[in-house]
Amino acid sequence: MVNTQYEEVLNEGLAKIIVPRLERYKRPDGSIEPAWMPVFYNPQAVISRDFTTMFLKTIFKNKEFFFVDALAGTGIRGIRIALESSGKGILNDVDPRAYNYIVKNILLNNLAERLEAYNSEANTLLNNLVFTGVLVDYVDVDPYGSPSPYIDSALKPLNKEAYIGVTATDTGPLSCTYPHKTLSRYWSNCFKVDFEKEFATRLLIANTVLRAASLEIDLKPLVVLVYKYFIRVFFKSKRSAWEAYKTVENCIGYLWYCPKTLERGFTSSIEELDVKCSDGSKPLVAGKTWICNIYDYNTTSELINNIEKHNWISNETRKTASLILNEAEIENPYIRLDKLCSVLKINMPSVTVVIEKLREAGFKASRTHMDPRGIRTNAGYNELTSLLLSLTNNS
Ligand SMILES: C[S@@+](CC[C@H](N)C(=O)[O-])C[C@H]1O[C@@H](n2cnc3c(N)ncnc32)[C@H](O)[C@@H]1O
Repeated sequence: MVNTQYEEVLNEGLAKIIVPRLERYKRPDGSIEPAWMPVFYNPQAVISRDFTTMFLKTIFKNKEFFFVDALAGTGIRGIRIALESSGKGILNDVDPRAYNYIVKNILLNNLAERLEAYNSEANTLLNNLVFTGVLVDYVDVDPYGSPSPYIDSALKPLNKEAYIGVTATDTGPLSCTYPHKTLSRYWSNCFKVDFEKEFATRLLIANTVLRAASLEIDLKPLVVLVYKYFIRVFFKSKRSAWEAYKTVENCIGYLWYCPKTLERGFTSSIEELDVKCSDGSKPLVAGKTWICNIYDYNTTSELINNIEKHNWISNETRKTASLILNEAEIENPYIRLDKLCSVLKINMPSVTVVIEKLREAGFKASRTHMDPRGIRTNAGYNELTSLLLSLTNNS
């Protein structure tokens, strides 16, 4: 089954997986370039797959559920879902070479009774499922670049209450490097902000929620993961026109932002926005964006507990998960400490010291897994800047 000249067998999670020989696809710096492989396998995305299997274990416990891995590559994600949680499902890829790997990998892991391989275009497959009466409890959307072309189809076969995991790697448009692309792809006006990675995540959430609402499906984000080149969001879905409307009304809005002082906030309505930046200027306004919490604390803490409990989960995933646990209970977007100190014209104290001092003063404060220079806190702007100024005065 394995052609050892061109292929190797790796272990990832509880799975064994046949992949193209990785050393044949090394960049000059030694890192692997998955895009050069005949089938896509990215060792750096282990964390995304660890989170996926542990998320599904958290949600479904030991209850059997039906899932579709719509863009499966080698099949590693779906195979791990079947081995590490209680999923049964479909692994699909449009590329016949990927399909062959999926078939071989299902057999290698003895999963022929739980998994079926398909060689279909993802939208076609997902739309066809709607007409076959198959109801899906979880759909995984893990494309190259933007998930936009697949979202509507991924939502349609979902059960009354279900879940969807979405990856985006088009961080350029999502981070407002190309504002025209952000507008056309994600329906949002934008500008550069210091909490770039979180703002990108919020734009992705808002757009996915709006697409779902147009299909009378309510979506809420439960867990987000931002790592190197990708953003991953796990949503809960519910078929309810009323709840979809309420979520759009309450949680889709705008960011106001003062680029010179880094003051920021969210608002549901631009018309009712009545704030000035402390330097006297008018804030910039971006949106539409997601203005509610990006984490569901209970789901996130249970997921992280599962990550800690299962010894096959990678150390990198454990490290990231422990950061997420602290930040998940703080709703405010993170702020870049280096940029804020440069606004205040002071030397930057260590992130750890600032967090300690904020906690001593009775605030919640945490690092963020999204950016090592960021701080997430429920302290207001004035409280945070006073604390920073007092720290430098006393040093
Ligand atoms: C990023 S890779 C998936 C990686 C995989 N989920 C994992 O965790 O390793 C994207 C995959 O989508 C497949 N693909 C691209 N366009 C597709 C489409 N329209 N329908 C189905 N598969 C598609 C590609 O062949 C590729 O294998």
